[in-house]
Amino acid sequence: MTTSNLQLGDLAPDFTAPTTRGEIRFHEWLGDSWGVLFSHPKDFTPVCTTELGTLARLEPEFTRRNVKVVGLSVDAISDHERWSEDIARTQGQAPDFPLIGDPERRVADLYGMVHPGASDTMTVRSVFVIGPDKKIKLTLTYPASTGRNFQELLRAIDSLQLTARHQVATPADWKQGEEVIIVPAVSDEEANRRYPDGFRAETPYLRYVPQPGE
Ligand code: BEZ
Repeated sequence: MTTSNLQLGDLAPDFTAPTTRGEIRFHEWLGDSWGVLFSHPKDFTPVCTTELGTLARLEPEFTRRNVKVVGLSVDAISDHERWSEDIARTQGQAPDFPLIGDPERRVADLYGMVHPGASDTMTVRSVFVIGPDKKIKLTLTYPASTGRNFQELLRAIDSLQLTARHQVATPADWKQGEEVIIVPAVSDEEANRRYPDGFRAETPYLRYVPQPGE
């Protein structure tokens, strides 16, 4: 039974682990980048094959956002390498990013990725988005039967990166370039100073402005 209960704002635990790209020391490998650490349940399984192919194709989108991606399952590195050939053949691209081999579940337990109520032997579909300060900014947990939407992960990272730079929040279904919300902690007076072109107030607490630039 794993007892890890990592929460938003917690320091992402550091570890050293073997990967398909050599051994990594997690914090050192992240450097000043953002990070995505994700688990999949098992190599040579169908949904995981589509997920890894999708992420492999999307890797340039993560790189463009200064996000390093690393995957994990409780399989051995040699399995990850053999499976990558199937991913390349069936999905058009194999992952370039590292895959951690964690048959002893050292990292999986550190991050609470095995949920015994779902499976005693496999990791669930966990995602941890980690900021440049090494703190956990977002978590997702999906069951084995439901493949993740990685466009949604990119969208959420866009929001995390924007709201780290500006005192705004993003509304439901927001996408890059759309209006954002002025957070309640910013008074109308302060909002007028920050946004001299004005803002749109639907109610005293629901105030929109165009997405701020750099
Ligand atoms: C899958 O990737 O298809 C899968 C993996 C583990 C359990 C069930 C499905």
